[in-house]
Amino acid sequence: MCTLLNMQSIAAVNSEEAIANRIKPFATVCLEGQECANTVAAGPASASGARTGEDVYNASCHTCHASGLLNAPKFGTTDWQERAAKGMETLMNHALNGFNAMPAKGTCATCSDDEIKNAVQYMVDSASK
Ligand code: HEC
Repeated sequence: MCTLLNMQSIAAVNSEEAIANRIKPFATVCLEGQECANTVAAGPASASGARTGEDVYNASCHTCHASGLLNAPKFGTTDWQERAAKGMETLMNHALNGFNAMPAKGTCATCSDDEIKNAVQYMVDSASK
């Protein structure tokens, strides 16, 4: 009986759909102006109106900053201590207006300046955790 149950669960785990789900890329680079199949909508506005840094990061910044794609400073690493040494004003200016491969507003066209600021702060803070 146990053997039968196990075989059924193995079959379920290895169904084509389950496999396709497991091997699909976890992130897709989504540049401004492109239609992206798996665009994650930015989270709902918080009570104060502005989305939290974590929401904005998860919706718009993690694509590059989670893995260090295109040499983006990587979340949770000392990369962000080095960037923070430039001063928050410079980081904010680059986040809003773009900087080399860093797109303006990190592709979050609907983000307010405060929301971008929250996201920058969230990533800078990640360096010390
Ligand atoms: C398409 C990829 C991509 C996305 C999406 C992205 N970034 Fe970046 N970001 C980069 C890259 C690449 C750099 C490094 C640029 C360099 O140093 O030349 C960078 C650097 C930065 C920096 C440091 C700038 C500096 O002066 O050192 C900040 C701040 C930043 N990003 C904020 C954000 C925020 C906030 C978001 C989301 C709202 C975001 N990024 C989304 C690619 C991205």
